[in-house]
Amino acid sequence: MITMNDIIREGHPTLTMVAKEVPIPPSPEDQETLRSLLEYVINSQNPETASKYGLRPGIGLAAPQINVSKRMLAVNVTDGQGKLYSYALFNPKIISHSIEKAYLTSGEGCLSVDRSVPGFVPRYARVTVRGWDLDGNEVKLRLKGLPAVVFQHEIDHLNGIMFYDHINPNNPFQPIPDAIAIER
Ligand code: NI
Repeated sequence: MITMNDIIREGHPTLTMVAKEVPIPPSPEDQETLRSLLEYVINSQNPETASKYGLRPGIGLAAPQINVSKRMLAVNVTDGQGKLYSYALFNPKIISHSIEKAYLTSGEGCLSVDRSVPGFVPRYARVTVRGWDLDGNEVKLRLKGLPAVVFQHEIDHLNGIMFYDHINPNNPFQPIPDAIAIER
């Protein structure tokens, strides 16, 4: 299982690389890696497991964060209505998005960043993501709110982008015009 010792931190070159597409149907090895990413986010949200193994709670994790430069990610997050979005995807891609933006009022964090970086991170309010699940079946998701933000954060990792790359360095809390403010 993945623990914090397996998660690389900012400054590691893999976090700045564009990750490689995963061949579909996925190999057993790639399936195992993706399964372990989802297992981490689920385990990290269970207080007993998290404390037993010293897991920092997370709602998403991308393969480059465990130093595997391949396009895969896992998300386990509940939206504002209490609906669970639990997905492990190969080759996820934003195939369409709203013009409207959104941001988390509390900013974003990352398991690869051991400090708080304050500021608003502009995201698309709504995205449609296409990818392939653990069995290699095509999946298409229409997302808004927190789940949309999490997928955009994780897909950024596949392209070597960190959340703070989007924060305005001169004015981190500069209002984002016509954006939806998401409270967590
Ligand atoms: Ni992250």
